[in-house]
Amino acid sequence: MLVHGISLFNYRNYREQQLNFHPSLNIIIGDNAQGKTNILESIYYAVTGKSHRTNYDNEMIRWGESFLRVVLAGERYSGKIKIEIIVRTDGKKILKINNKPKKKLSELIGAINTVLFSPEDMMMVKGSPSVRRRFLDMEISQTSPSYCHNLVSYNKALSQRNNLLKAVREGEENDQLIDIWDTQLVNYGVPIIKKRSEVIGKIKPIAREIHRKITDGKEEINVSYISSVNFKNMDDGVKEEEFFLKKLKENRKMEIIKGVTSLGPHRDDMGLKIGSTDIKSFGSQGQQRTGALSLKLSEIEFIKMETGESPVLLLDDVMSELDEKRRKFLLEVVREKVQTFITSTGVEDIVEKVNGPGRIFEVKEGKTSLLQEG
Ligand SMILES: Nc1ncnc2c1ncn2[C@@H]1O[C@H](COP(=O)(O)OP(=O)(O)O)[C@@H](O)[C@H]1O
Ligand SMILES: [Mg+2]
Repeated sequence: MLVHGISLFNYRNYREQQLNFHPSLNIIIGDNAQGKTNILESIYYAVTGKSHRTNYDNEMIRWGESFLRVVLAGERYSGKIKIEIIVRTDGKKILKINNKPKKKLSELIGAINTVLFSPEDMMMVKGSPSVRRRFLDMEISQTSPSYCHNLVSYNKALSQRNNLLKAVREGEENDQLIDIWDTQLVNYGVPIIKKRSEVIGKIKPIAREIHRKITDGKEEINVSYISSVNFKNMDDGVKEEEFFLKKLKENRKMEIIKGVTSLGPHRDDMGLKIGSTDIKSFGSQGQQRTGALSLKLSEIEFIKMETGESPVLLLDDVMSELDEKRRKFLLEVVREKVQTFITSTGVEDIVEKVNGPGRIFEVKEGKTSLLQEG
């Protein structure tokens, strides 16, 4: 998959910017707060309909303006793709794919896939379970419209149920009403758990292989899915739905007191171990970084497996976070026919290590110019 170019209008600190990208490597350099991440964000935004930095589309509209417009020209084996997104300050959002208006953002699934790697991803191993769930959800949503749908519906049901739990606690509502939301949680939640387990089954050997290479065969990482519902404890012949429902019933009294739903996909996590060590809590910083890198790189392979094409790789400020060895490993991947975008404050540490053609852009106060073409 390729991003040929992007045109930004009132996007963050860009008033009007047209960029044509190189099919293999694009390096974006500039001082802090000039607009490097904004470019990667705009690519990510065009292909997913969401920012990786905020849930509020208004934040991307240039201050003082009433709308933004992003147009991305891309390509995959099946042909050229043009994606256009317009967002207005009144909340209206318009999506067009190949000039045809689309009602749902999920229509973008199957257009262009990206893997974004930002400094926050370095916290993926060490951070809270929500970071790892987000990783899984982003990865799976990109290739599965049904997963995306289930996730949105599940989250809606969850927030309704939590509101109701609180209302029951305050004596404002009858607790029997909770049954309806239990059914919804189960109907949307079980496929989410199953899909996440399946995907982890697929990325597990890939991440293990990558991790082994980075550590020269010294370490073996074991990735697993840890579900709060834990179907492993199910008796034979019991369906997942029945089991989940029963667990919700058992926990209801306690949940009413707390006013939150205590189990389901929103409470699940990934297990990350080296030998018997849980590296989330007990890994060295090196192990945690290598783990994060292995997981992220396994995402590239996963998308290749699912779609038959390499995704576009967006590396935001991660080079400076990596030591020589990990950086080298990452750049090897870049050379393997994955179109890559790298942002950095300095060009020295990247350019000399990336042999081969590419384009270097310089960003200054929301204006980007082509610095070098090689
Ligand atoms: N909605 C907006 N309108 C105008 N400028 C914005 C908006 N959002 C962010 N900015 C500006 O964008 C700059 C940050 O851009 P960013 O791409 O994150 O920088 P960096 O080059 O460090 O990656 C800051 O100067 C910030 O003030
Ligand atoms: Mg940045």
